[in-house]
Amino acid sequence: MTEINGYTQSDNEKKLDILNLPSLENEAKKIIPTGGFGYISGGSEDEWTLNHNSEAFNHVQIVPHVLSNIDDPQTNTSIFGIDVKTPIMMSPAAAQGLAHSQGEKDTAKGMAKAGALMSQSTYSSTSIADTATAGDGAPQFFQLYMSKDWNFNESLLSEAKKSGAKAIILTSDATVDGYRESDIVNDFQFPIPVANLEKFSEGDGKGKGIGEIYAAAAQKISPADVQRIKDFTGLPVIVKGVQSPEDALLAIGAGADGIYVSNHGGRQLNGGPASFDVLESVAKAVNHKVPVIFDSGVRRGSHVFKALASGADMVALARPIIYGLALGGADGVYSVVEHLNDEFKTVMQLAGTKTIDDVKNAQLLKLNY
Ligand code: FNR
Ligand code: LAC
Repeated sequence: MTEINGYTQSDNEKKLDILNLPSLENEAKKIIPTGGFGYISGGSEDEWTLNHNSEAFNHVQIVPHVLSNIDDPQTNTSIFGIDVKTPIMMSPAAAQGLAHSQGEKDTAKGMAKAGALMSQSTYSSTSIADTATAGDGAPQFFQLYMSKDWNFNESLLSEAKKSGAKAIILTSDATVDGYRESDIVNDFQFPIPVANLEKFSEGDGKGKGIGEIYAAAAQKISPADVQRIKDFTGLPVIVKGVQSPEDALLAIGAGADGIYVSNHGGRQLNGGPASFDVLESVAKAVNHKVPVIFDSGVRRGSHVFKALASGADMVALARPIIYGLALGGADGVYSVVEHLNDEFKTVMQLAGTKTIDDVKNAQLLKLNY
């Protein structure tokens, strides 16, 4: 274990023997300090939306198929011309130093080893360059929290582009922090610096709560900001936090190159729908004009399957991977992605689907149990 500012970080580096992803939460709770665990696991208000995110996958069923004459399902796919071994990817998640002393560097290593796409947050514990270097050339997206200070934005975007980011994720559902009761109960402030803030007037985030850090961010994000980021970086821009067909079309009309359907893992607007429950309608509106990324509540291989069959091109998750980081570092992250992908391959086989395209064309049932 590593001690920093009175906060204890895991140094574990080992592969994990995983029964299922939900069980990782209680294992991680034993080694992540209370405040950090509450920040990671917590949602907003009474966590109604958080709690419905995973349950929503039960609203549709996968039809098993027989005599399909397939074996060895193939999970390789691509997005923006980037080939990956699996549609499973890391959601951008701040402050992974709360889980492990290596933070996002080990997450990047584990995702790279799994052949999976990594995203890094503006509010990462490790710098853009260090996180990119740790990924050793594996594809990464950079997630921007727009600041009121465009010098800050442009400095971040320049570093992201120089570090090889393949796309920019513009997070648009967090213009103010959701009402995070775990953080209030724990009086939680970040005990470790936010690497990308350290270099700017906003201070390094240490000793601040997420609300104070968000306060420095831009509360107003307009469609014009999508094009401004595109013009500045020349990279694809993905708008994250979309939960309605209208917003998807607004984003695409503003130049978005990707739509990221997410409710921030139930950490922002509580009382909103489970993210999976809006995916199909959003994907129908997008109608393959741009790729769709989905997250919030993904815990099973069947969830990955259902998201792809409902219109997603990539399926992301955060908390289970962060728990794997705490429990095993880079190899823990790798173990989580590998386990989820193995569950996904079993579902593909039993559903008679050989390729990701087959999965995307699979018919789901909606039987009300
Ligand atoms: C997040 N999320 C997030 N999203 C984002 O755009 N930028 C960020 O910095 C963060 N930070 C962050 C920290 C932690 C600890 C969590 C748990 C989540 C939201 C994240 O990208 C994703 O939308 C949800 O976490 C997905 O839900 P699950 O898989 O965590 O349930
Ligand atoms: C959160 C922010 C950092 O969910 O996205 O905590």
